Amino acid sequence: MNVLIIGSGGREHALAWKIAQSALVDEVWSAPGNPGMDVVGPCFDVKADDLESIQKLVLQTNPDLIVVGPEQPLALGVADMLRARGFDVFGPSKEAAQLESSKAFSKERMAKYGVPTARFGRFTETEAARAFLDEMQAPYVLKADGLAAGKGVVIAESRDEAETEIEAMLGGKFGDASAELVIEEFMDGEEASVFVITDGTGAIYLPPAQDHKRVGDGDTGPNTGGMGAYAPAPVMDDAMMARVKSEIAEPMLKGMVKDGTPYQGVLYIGVMVTAEGPKVVEFNARFGDPECQVLMAGLAGDIVPALLASATGGLAGNEAAFVSMLELDDFCPTATVVMATDGYPGSYAKGSAIKGVEVAGDMEGVTVFHAGTDKDSEGTLIAIGGRVLNVTATGEDLQGAIETAYQGVDAIDWPEGFCRRDIGWRAKSR
Ligand code: AMP
Ligand code: GLY
Repeated sequence: MNVLIIGSGGREHALAWKIAQSALVDEVWSAPGNPGMDVVGPCFDVKADDLESIQKLVLQTNPDLIVVGPEQPLALGVADMLRARGFDVFGPSKEAAQLESSKAFSKERMAKYGVPTARFGRFTETEAARAFLDEMQAPYVLKADGLAAGKGVVIAESRDEAETEIEAMLGGKFGDASAELVIEEFMDGEEASVFVITDGTGAIYLPPAQDHKRVGDGDTGPNTGGMGAYAPAPVMDDAMMARVKSEIAEPMLKGMVKDGTPYQGVLYIGVMVTAEGPKVVEFNARFGDPECQVLMAGLAGDIVPALLASATGGLAGNEAAFVSMLELDDFCPTATVVMATDGYPGSYAKGSAIKGVEVAGDMEGVTVFHAGTDKDSEGTLIAIGGRVLNVTATGEDLQGAIETAYQGVDAIDWPEGFCRRDIGWRAKSR
């Protein structure tokens, strides 16, 4: 079979790399892909959120499975569009993807299904939003309703700061995405990312991962898309994972079916492990980036049967068979370090040359996934994005994986790049 991956980040490179290892797969194609994905298979110059061109490409190339990486095309309805043409798609419908694309939708569904999350209110008027602050305590969590590239959440330490932010958001700080505002209670705890591959009713739980959202060591500085990840994350022990299944994933999936919006694809549950138990920080309609990179690198078995079953049905009741094809019991501890361009998540320059990626990739246990890279006219690898490379390593244990990943980082010669030096610190400090 031939598989088309939609997207161009480190997450999509990791998916392409893993899928290409399956005995079921002949070729892996990417749209638009990146220089790393180009080594796996042909890349087509079609943007991930250009639905018309994606449809044209799919009709021309006739892939047996389409795997959608990022959230934007899902929120625009790419899965519905391609399913209507008879293609098998890994990814949720536009309606179901609202669990990510609308915080208000997501919070309403959690409330309806009794899923634990922070207490919240929804607002379009500043007066009502301000009045709601009276019922809450600092710090205040303010969220733009729509997709804001991971920047739509502000944690205000004081009432003044919260009021200023309410004005800014409802005043159009994030355009349409902040026309509606969600204000919620602050949850204290440690975060983890849980990924559930589902066809709507059946569910496979991948090993829990942990991301590092802040740009600086010690979790300081502004939020980013994620500066590194590792799996398995010990904060999510078996008992906590069992609670995530029974208190969060199962009621969500059941409720989505009952309400006529079944969820197909991977459900990303951002969990806060609090003193009272697991609570949902957010849902995403796709794999995490960079969590996907550690999951793909650490998986011993074949992921394609599970992706295909998610797209076509047949998971429910057969979970054990898929768990065994994935070889989840032999998952290898894995860490990834994101190398980013100086200035990220603020503004940064494009075009700096990167050397040593092959040297790093040839090291035992190391795989380098590409994100914001390109080749210049001479074929030199250059940085064109904020997050640029994901240096990923497996190890006998997490400590070993982290050390090897940093050896990979140190083999890369890119003066204009930087990374966090403390990926995995929460696991290590346990
Ligand atoms: P989100 O985009 O909803 O995942 O929010 C981004 C980040 O803000 C999360 O990863 C958390 O670190 C933090 N955050 C969001 N909501 C809350 C909350 N209710 N309590 C504490 N931290 C939160
Ligand atoms: N790593 C966080 C995300 O993908 O949203």
